[in-house]
Amino acid sequence: MAPTTSLTITPLHPCLGARVEGVDLTAPLDEATFRAIDSAFQTHSVLVFHDQPFTGQQQMAFSGRWGPLETTINASGRENRLHPQLVDLSNIDPDHDDRLMGWNDRRMIYQSGNQLWHTDSSFKPVPAMSSLLNGREVPPEGGETEFLSLRHAWRTLPEATRRRLEGRVVVHSILYSRSTIAPGLLDPDQERGLPPVRQALVRANPVNGEKAVYLGSHAWYIEGMPYVESRRLLDDLMAHATRPEAVYQHRWRRWDAVMWDNRCVLHRGRPWDAARHKRVMRRTTVAGEGPTAEPPLAARTAAWAGIVPEGVGI
Ligand code: OGA
Ligand code: MN
Repeated sequence: MAPTTSLTITPLHPCLGARVEGVDLTAPLDEATFRAIDSAFQTHSVLVFHDQPFTGQQQMAFSGRWGPLETTINASGRENRLHPQLVDLSNIDPDHDDRLMGWNDRRMIYQSGNQLWHTDSSFKPVPAMSSLLNGREVPPEGGETEFLSLRHAWRTLPEATRRRLEGRVVVHSILYSRSTIAPGLLDPDQERGLPPVRQALVRANPVNGEKAVYLGSHAWYIEGMPYVESRRLLDDLMAHATRPEAVYQHRWRRWDAVMWDNRCVLHRGRPWDAARHKRVMRRTTVAGEGPTAEPPLAARTAAWAGIVPEGVGI
């Protein structure tokens, strides 16, 4: 079946990303168009679509073509007030006459976790497959979103390092990543519901076999290695992955829709003048197919305050 629309796919950066034109994502997609978008997604990892004024329902319907959507934790108090499967990233305070929240607001401090390089939900036993962000209100400057390819990072590692990484398991924890921002961002009840999880360090795309080194802010330590050595290795891998020439920066236009592959992409939001300018984004997140490592849950080894697993001397 031929697509009823003709898509134009234009690469945006040598490492990842493509702009897709010629499709209205707010309308139901025919099967052939969906397949063409999915094929571009599997290849380019980040797809940018301009002029997609989604309603929440339309955005959920489009993302839902890939499978069940994730329900997002409601840690900042307000993130999922619209619908459990629609994340509202906004600096508008609904409790105070829609005033703008600056970076000193607790909800914004929590949101600032998005400014660390990460991959969505890597702290969950089944991490997210993809995310789609729609820009409803975008600031005139700042507030960009940056992306990098973890496939490119993998390909450009020395062979000896790759051998050292194959088959390894990394413990991911949102308590760890949030502890690097500020203490006490999650309350003890929430903490109990967020035990550390195990993720494969090297992942292959099930469609084309492309390997990626799976990292990000929630990656805490590598199992079976002294803690300090594993931290140093993760820091070195992050430094390698985040080299400036590997980063694609997306400058938002209103109603852009950007979809990325959480299995092989790191992303981060950039700051903007939040006390002065609105930034309202909505995200839908497609759940992953299953755990990346078995068993998915890690033993709860952490002394959270010290952020050091038991039994490792430092
Ligand atoms: C996200 C995210 C960054 C941004 O929605 O998952 O990390 O630029 N967003 O808002
Ligand atoms: Mn994110």
